[in-house]
Amino acid sequence: MSATGIRLHAPAPGWSLDADVVVVGSGVAGLTAALRCAAAGLRTVVVTKARLDDGSTRWAQGGIAAAIGEGDTPAQHLDDTLVAGAGLCDEEAVRTLVTEGPDAVRRLIETGAHFDTGPGGAIELTREGGHHRRRIAHAGGDATGAEISRALVEAVRARGIPTVENALVLDLLTDADGRTAGVSLHVMGEGQHDGVGAVHAPAVVLATGGMGQVFSATTNPSVSTGDGVALALRAGAEVSDLEFVQFHPTVLFLGADAEGQQPLVSEAVRGEGAHLVDADGVRFMVGQHELAELAPRDIVAKGITRRMQERGTEHMYLDARHFGATMWENRFPTILAACRAHGIDPVTEPIPVAPAAHYASGGVRTDPHGRTTVPGLYACGEVACTGVHGANRLASNSLLEGLVYAERIAADIAARHA
Ligand code: SIN
Repeated sequence: MSATGIRLHAPAPGWSLDADVVVVGSGVAGLTAALRCAAAGLRTVVVTKARLDDGSTRWAQGGIAAAIGEGDTPAQHLDDTLVAGAGLCDEEAVRTLVTEGPDAVRRLIETGAHFDTGPGGAIELTREGGHHRRRIAHAGGDATGAEISRALVEAVRARGIPTVENALVLDLLTDADGRTAGVSLHVMGEGQHDGVGAVHAPAVVLATGGMGQVFSATTNPSVSTGDGVALALRAGAEVSDLEFVQFHPTVLFLGADAEGQQPLVSEAVRGEGAHLVDADGVRFMVGQHELAELAPRDIVAKGITRRMQERGTEHMYLDARHFGATMWENRFPTILAACRAHGIDPVTEPIPVAPAAHYASGGVRTDPHGRTTVPGLYACGEVACTGVHGANRLASNSLLEGLVYAERIAADIAARHA
């Protein structure tokens, strides 16, 4: 115990900062929380394990789901989310997501994110698994996360929010009453903040992303190691639904021994009409579900795995040759480049694909305001379990969840600080 009554779970800090709120992580959820906290006048510090744009957000391809299209309603988005979640979603949490989502997307656009638009200037919408209609906004064709990350990083820098990069969070600091008092960190190569240090703050927002790197093959970047959940557990926070790790059905197959982050082939490729086929060209998802290739993600991943087992093969194929070169180049430039970098040309040949670990649907349990069970500790984004995903997240609901619940957290911290 130190003289200030703050309990340290790590070596004594060599440097320290004081703030009203410290945000741990720099994806869509973390940076949105930071921007909204700063806008509310709170002294906000962002700490992140690598560089500001190194989290999972930047790798998101398909887009962000919200009921913003003509004829769409939050009620329809709610229905699709509940069905995908296999009966285990928290319905109120989903209602919050789908009703607050459209305005949260508009605020993201005001913050500087540019989405793809059609000839009339309206946002272009695509489909993905489990959605009964076109509902997914995208940017740069298949580079939605990169555009959102760019816009948020620029906004954080423009606002002058202090950031500490290359900062591995060691532990939550708590005061004598068990309330959050900040975080201890180990920072490498960041000049004035090098070595072990601390940011003291009565509110900590965990937005550290997922844990895909726990699996041998994943779509997640190297920073997704589950350290946020581990920190929360050490701090005594409740976690839930950790068993619901979602496997993305279509990840570029690079060989049975391929490890680490593998190239994603977005569900939006199927949303635009690509077919899943076996080596004989048979569309094996037809007849398995009314939405065939666009069934919820768990059903498609299982369908692929079953067919692989039946056929004794290591992958299936995604066939989108009928798109033609122009559509591939304009609509899916990132995926086209990744396939070609690995010697596959989707314009002339089907893409070999297999499921890989993609998303942690569970995490640190939160209430509707993003509060965990530890006073002063909040969680949002993939590290959190708000209850919106149930057993299986609906495609492209993750960026939306990050936005909506980060804004709720900022509002709660600001209200308590006032
Ligand atoms: C994809 O583009 O297929 C991934 C979208 C998501 O994980 O929601």
